[in-house]
Amino acid sequence: MSLIENPYYCDFLITPTCNFNCSFCSAASDKKKPKVNQLSLSSITKALHELDELDVLRVSFEGGEPFLRKDIFEILSVADELDFLYYINTNGSLISDEIAEKLSHTNVSKICISIDGPNSIIHDHCRGYVGAFEKMVKAVHSLQKYDVPIQAIITLSRSNYKYFYDTLDCIKNLGLTSASVMLLASVGSASTDLITPFDDWSNLLIKLSEDKLSGSLPVDLRIVTTGESSFPWELHVPLLKRERLDLLGAWIDPNNSEPFSSNSFGCTAGRSSMAIDGYGNVYGCSLMVSQPEFCAGNIEDNSLVEIWNNSTVFGDMRKATLEKIEGPCKDCEHLYDCKGGCRACSSSCSKSKFGSDLRCEIAKEIATA
Ligand SMILES: C[S@@+](CC[C@H](N)C(=O)[O-])C[C@H]1O[C@@H](n2cnc3c(N)ncnc32)[C@H](O)[C@@H]1O
Ligand code: SF4
Ligand code: SF4
Repeated sequence: MSLIENPYYCDFLITPTCNFNCSFCSAASDKKKPKVNQLSLSSITKALHELDELDVLRVSFEGGEPFLRKDIFEILSVADELDFLYYINTNGSLISDEIAEKLSHTNVSKICISIDGPNSIIHDHCRGYVGAFEKMVKAVHSLQKYDVPIQAIITLSRSNYKYFYDTLDCIKNLGLTSASVMLLASVGSASTDLITPFDDWSNLLIKLSEDKLSGSLPVDLRIVTTGESSFPWELHVPLLKRERLDLLGAWIDPNNSEPFSSNSFGCTAGRSSMAIDGYGNVYGCSLMVSQPEFCAGNIEDNSLVEIWNNSTVFGDMRKATLEKIEGPCKDCEHLYDCKGGCRACSSSCSKSKFGSDLRCEIAKEIATA
């Protein structure tokens, strides 16, 4: 019997290319991304069957922009026959009434649509595309017309944090009830300069936490952090420094048991999650796709089951313990609670797989002490 657990989640970047040009894109996608060697429908079909064999619970189709694939509905019809749930992450620019109607006949659990600002000035700026906001609004209306479930995804950066509450109001006015906010990961095209300044994030987080606890946020909001632990530094460090740890319960269930052993990294890559890029390369997480050192194999060369069970890259990630961590986090008193932040971001900013997550304010303070 294998001691390796099956993955729960897979992000499937079914195309490397995009019609937008977001300066923060974790997949570094744009129109110029080469399409040569992009995955064929038959390779995607085979991979989906293998994900089913691995008992994956949920697949997220993304990219690039997934609706750029002309065969998207053929891909979805394969997924419809299999056991996992699936979502589609999209910028919404290509969803017409006709596409929405076709989506309503699939088993898609929800369309996760990116909404980065309350109007065309902010949203278009974030998305690097004039007219992005108008297209996103049309997509939401088309999906609503055909009762396709939608969730808003906000990617928080220096460009849009000031308009966060306006964005939540915009999402509510569009008739949506839930949103997730992703904190910027410094990977792909995203430089650390795009991260929301620490003091501004701390102010926003405190207000959001208070409003969430009092039930006065316009929509049901979830904050997606990049590492997994009972102490994600993105939430914990600002609240700790402002002596407001009482607010942590707005986002984290204190009764939730710790998913990892005491000395393992708080990174789900290669343990409960995996990602496949538009060329068939397999990684532990979609935030790793621009870093070849995290590539565990390619689905054109080996089956996903073989890659999941036997790849050295995944084996090393599963074995790694916090004793291996290098740089400022090594000297942090919170290391064994925090579990070292995000491996993809740590690697991109520290140039080492076991480096420190230098986006964290405490890591920055230790580094400059
Ligand atoms: C890579 S995109 C692909 C799907 C689609 N093109 C879109 O933008 O929604 C998936 C999600 O990741 C978010 N994202 C992109 N780059 C990111 C980064 N550096 N950090 C955090 N989230 C990011 C996007 O805003 C989007 O919500
Ligand atoms: S975040 Fe999405 S819309 Fe923006 S460039 Fe990347 S893939 Fe395209
Ligand atoms: S310095 Fe490192 S270990 Fe300490 S809280 Fe920040 S990310 Fe976590």
